[in-house]
Amino acid sequence: MADREVVIVEVGPRDGLQNEKVPIATADKLALIGKLASVGLARIEATAFVSPRWVPQMADHDAVMRCLFPRPGVTYSALVPNERGAEAALAAGAQALAVFTAASESFSQKNTNCSIAEGISRFEPVLALARSAGVPVRGYVSCALDCPYEGEIAPSAVAEVTARLLAIGCSEIALSDTIGRGTPDRTAQMIEAALRVAAATKLAGHFHDTSGRALGNVEAAWRLGLRVFDGAIGGTGGCPYAPGAAGNLATERLAAHFAAKGIETGIDLVALRSAAAWIGTLLRS
Ligand code: HMG
Ligand code: MG
Repeated sequence: MADREVVIVEVGPRDGLQNEKVPIATADKLALIGKLASVGLARIEATAFVSPRWVPQMADHDAVMRCLFPRPGVTYSALVPNERGAEAALAAGAQALAVFTAASESFSQKNTNCSIAEGISRFEPVLALARSAGVPVRGYVSCALDCPYEGEIAPSAVAEVTARLLAIGCSEIALSDTIGRGTPDRTAQMIEAALRVAAATKLAGHFHDTSGRALGNVEAAWRLGLRVFDGAIGGTGGCPYAPGAAGNLATERLAAHFAAKGIETGIDLVALRSAAAWIGTLLRS
């Protein structure tokens, strides 16, 4: 296969499923991840080692991570809020970690019950554990465009949090339009601000598709040099602490977008669409 020119990070098993109210069987989550791993996706965020009281759907994180079938060329990551989550995720076999904070104080409080600064200080032991284990840590910046509680967010606030996450050792920052209200113009302004503190190779785009503009935002980010984008199979998802947040950009639309531009993502589109149909049926049943 030709080298990937764009890397698609599949966040469906975590971001896509976390907001589902009806418990999804662990075996079904594993079946989904197995399908995703077989279509050419190189990075899959498999689960979240967060409080089961806060996000009940991720309560089986340990079983999911321990039962994943290792596959050459596929990295399974786990979202973690603190040292305890990182320890458990690494013990269960996570090959990468992701921490999460926000460019909005109100969202940080609602989502993690702490300020941005407190959240980042909780990540320092996570980074230390990851360094010892030799695994990379992605840092998410939620509300990079709008906050459900504070409205529009200044690009400078995004740049500041991006710089702080890089300073503690995150290897990649996922600039996240949590509630999917962003436009391509505002996305470009936000990314230009982030590029003042980070190389394009350190940045990824994570766009929810609430307003149907996520692909336009991807395109704006791609033009500014970003080459890593998140998708959730079937456009599943939302965040329980972000009222109004709909699903992520569907991975199959994201992959088709780059295929139409002749850009290699390494993904088998037919197999990916079949996985999307499967999860659609499962969630409707
Ligand atoms: P807290 O209540 O401030 O902290 O929660 P705590 O230390 O008092 O712990 C509360 C409970 O959680 C305790 O249990 C702890 O033992 C337990 P209880 O006494 O209630 O039975 N606990 C844990 N359990 C499992 N794993 C852990 C862990 N840590 C504590 N690692 C905390 C603070 C951060 C834990 C909580 O707020 C939390 O788990 N929040 C997670 C929220 C979340 O997962 N949101 C969705 C993911 S983020 C997202 O979707 C955005 C993103 O997609 C990007 C974007 O689109 O913007 C990434
Ligand atoms: Mg998200």
